[in-house]
Amino acid sequence: MDIIRKIWNALPFPDQTKRLLIIFVFFITGWLVVRHHLVPPTFGQRGYYRAAAVDSIAALPISFVGQSQCVECHVDEGAVKTASYHRDVSCEVCHGPGAKHLDDPSANSLLPAKERTLCTVCHSYTASKPTGFPQIEPLTHNPADPCIKCHNPHDPKPPTTPSACGACHGEIARTKSVSHHASLECTFCHQTQELHKISPRAAIPGKPANRDFCGGCHSRSADSPKEIPRVDMDSHGDGHLCWQCHYPHYPEAL
Ligand code: HEC
Ligand code: HEC
Ligand code: HEC
Ligand code: HEC
Ligand code: HEC
Ligand code: HEC
Ligand code: HEC
Ligand code: HEC
Repeated sequence: MDIIRKIWNALPFPDQTKRLLIIFVFFITGWLVVRHHLVPPTFGQRGYYRAAAVDSIAALPISFVGQSQCVECHVDEGAVKTASYHRDVSCEVCHGPGAKHLDDPSANSLLPAKERTLCTVCHSYTASKPTGFPQIEPLTHNPADPCIKCHNPHDPKPPTTPSACGACHGEIARTKSVSHHASLECTFCHQTQELHKISPRAAIPGKPANRDFCGGCHSRSADSPKEIPRVDMDSHGDGHLCWQCHYPHYPEAL
């Protein structure tokens, strides 16, 4: 103790500086210990992370196999789903990782629970979802039953016969319904035979052919309600088709 006291008194600083010095030495030592003994050896080799983490993640067992594997055995489910609204939702999104199932299908069932949450993950209403994505409010949309009672998960069309255009062109219909063109009927711009709703490719609907079609409401001389915005048909858009710049189902004055 005497030695420490002698060194303490011999240092040519005021006492408060010496105490600060102790704290300083303490932190420097701590930092050196951490730097040389606790930081993993490969930290910093490729950036601000442990380089060996890449190898350890790559070495994990693979648990997802991909849809192309599933449909080799489940041909029917594959065919139904490919033609449905869920064509872009992969099997394992709902059924979970399938690697073990491939090893031994009967010992490792992939049948999902009939929970509504399986579907509401994607379909419950959130304002930030893209306009037109089919959304429901789970508290009011048939809350008593599991979704798959009414919607086949592999072909989830609404369980009623299509009558409106939106039954098949749901995304366009929902997009239009919140646009400036909400009040325009689809058939105002697309001449459609009834046959199209039963056999769509046997009777393809018409589409507007030229700028004058839009000019029917939007030209300066048009005989349309005065709240509709007007453009000078001779100069506006340099003669390009209107829908090269304005999406007709959700037109915006950019
Ligand atoms: C090698 C062929 C094969 C592949 C590949 C395969 N399955 Fe299966 N799957 C089977 C067989 C066989 C059964 C029936 C097992 C039984 O009933 O015991 C089955 C049953 C199922 C069942 C129903 C389980 C039940 O308990 O009724 C689901 C769901 C399923 N498979 C999903 C998948 C998914 C998803 C994939 C892709 C990750 C997949 N399968 C890949 C052969 C396969
Ligand atoms: C949107 C979610 C979802 C997707 C995507 C999905 N499934 Fe299913 N699947 C289910 C649900 C839910 C059931 C349970 C149906 C029931 O219990 O009646 C099921 C049942 C099954 C069954 C059991 C037999 C039957 O038809 O009821 C098989 C086999 C199956 N799915 C295979 C597949 C394959 C293969 C794919 C990909 C091509 C796939 N599923 C994609 C949700 C899905
Ligand atoms: C991973 C996300 C995802 C999950 C999980 C999912 N879906 Fe879907 N669903 C979609 C997509 C994507 C579409 C196609 C949207 C489109 O056409 O714009 C769709 C379309 C639909 C439609 C058609 C709506 C219409 O008229 O346009 C229904 C009904 C539906 N899903 C029901 C279900 C049910 C029931 C389940 C649970 C078994 C489910 N979905 C699970 C992504 C999902
Ligand atoms: C009792 C039957 C029933 C149940 C259960 C049910 N639906 Fe529906 N669903 C319908 C009918 C009928 C429609 C057609 C439109 C309407 O009447 O609301 C529909 C429409 C939809 C649509 C399309 C909405 C649109 O804007 O085009 C989606 C998505 C959907 N349902 C998802 C679900 C999900 C997810 C569940 C479970 C949480 C579910 N449904 C449960 C009967 C049902
Ligand atoms: C039964 C489902 C169904 C109904 C209902 C339906 N359509 Fe279609 N529609 C389709 C399909 C499928 C196609 C794609 C045909 C193709 O590309 O070969 C299509 C294509 C179209 C096209 C594009 C044609 C082209 O040249 O690319 C327009 C426009 C159209 N539909 C408008 C309408 C209108 C307007 C209504 C309502 C009066 C309607 N559809 C009702 C299924 C339907
Ligand atoms: C203001 C006129 C207008 C209205 C209203 C309108 N469309 Fe269109 N639609 C167009 C034009 C113009 C095109 C061609 C766009 C292109 O070629 O880029 C088109 C293209 C389409 C196509 C084929 C291209 C695509 O986007 O998939 C379909 C399908 C379609 N419309 C369906 C509908 C349906 C269903 C409705 C009603 C919900 C509707 N349209 C309402 C003007 C309209
Ligand atoms: C039957 C009349 C009618 C026709 C035909 C029509 N529109 Fe419109 N358009 C409207 C109405 C109504 C509004 C909304 C005016 C308002 O917001 O008060 C509108 C608004 C617009 C806007 C302004 C959107 C904004 O952000 O203010 C654009 C751009 C537009 N339409 C483009 C088109 C194009 C492109 C076509 C041809 C494919 C077309 N319209 C055909 C009636 C029409
Ligand atoms: C080269 C791209 C382009 C083309 C083609 C085009 N527009 Fe536009 N449009 C715009 C832009 C950019 C604006 C917003 C700035 C402005 O008002 O000039 C606009 C604005 C508008 C507005 C809103 C004007 C207002 O006062 O709010 C209407 C309506 C409109 N366009 C209709 C049309 C019609 C109808 C056609 C076809 C005859 C057409 N546009 C062709 C780019 C285009």
